[in-house]
Amino acid sequence: MLREVTGIRYVTPLREGGSVPGVVEADDLGTYVVKFVGAAQGRKALVAEVIAGELGRRLGLRVPELVRFDFDPVIGLGEPDQEIQDLLKASGGLNLGMDFLPGALGFDPLVFPVEPGPAGRVVWFDALIGNVDRSWRNPNMLVWHRNVWLIDHGASLIWHHNWKSAAASSAKPYDASDHALARFSPDPAAAAAELAPLVTDELLAEVTALVPDEWLAGEPGFATADDVRRAYRELLAARAADIHERIRTAPKREERQPPPPWLRTWVEGKNAK
Ligand SMILES: Nc1ncnc2c1ncn2[C@@H]1O[C@H](COP(=O)(O)OP(=O)(O)OP(=O)(O)O)[C@@H](O)[C@H]1O
Ligand SMILES: [Mg+2]
Repeated sequence: MLREVTGIRYVTPLREGGSVPGVVEADDLGTYVVKFVGAAQGRKALVAEVIAGELGRRLGLRVPELVRFDFDPVIGLGEPDQEIQDLLKASGGLNLGMDFLPGALGFDPLVFPVEPGPAGRVVWFDALIGNVDRSWRNPNMLVWHRNVWLIDHGASLIWHHNWKSAAASSAKPYDASDHALARFSPDPAAAAAELAPLVTDELLAEVTALVPDEWLAGEPGFATADDVRRAYRELLAARAADIHERIRTAPKREERQPPPPWLRTWVEGKNAK
């Protein structure tokens, strides 16, 4: 089971996130980014965060720790914005927390170079989980202590929004031409050779078991939460086998211009320190 903490102080909303997550302190003295179950994105976004995030971490990628986050809306009563009040009131009970990385910077592909090896591993992982939310416009990666961390997997596993057509939509190519790491010569086939053998049924059973039953219950077409878990496992196992053959990586023409020389000099100076 994911570790469980209880919120004790609602600090601030993160308005740059579409689901308006909150920074919340917890009873373990930690600070977390909380994705609320009452957000418009719904509980499937939280399911995707757990399965993708925990899978990524087990494949050796950096993903901040995820926790079950018990939230009492009473601690958010001081928040003046009515929309946020409504969100918090709709989110009493179990939510998802991600360890807050203090001082982390948003990843910018023009400023932080990434080696082809790690770039390939992230692109392959995103193809595996069908992540459409790692473009250079919205990379959902943070740079913290000079390492790249992956956040925000709520829009991955997109086929779970319609299980009837899941197999067909999962068989489609994965377009990585917009991917934030596309410019770093990723080699998804090499990454697949390294990582796909790690995606065993045991591993998929382990990560799907971390999803709370109450986020899986009542899924149309499934009798139990374990049946839904099995569907995630089968789909991810099938993708792990051959998704690298369906990844498009050619950079698009509208990609941004290279950084001006002064910025490159500044970054090189920073990196040399
Ligand atoms: N663990 C973290 N540590 C520090 N900052 C974070 C963390 N997680 C998220 N953030 C900040 O909060 C912002 C919103 O988070 P996130 O992208 O997960 O939310 P979202 O609502 O899913 O956003 P989106 O609009 O991309 O769908 C991030 O862009 C980042 O600036
Ligand atoms: Mg985001």
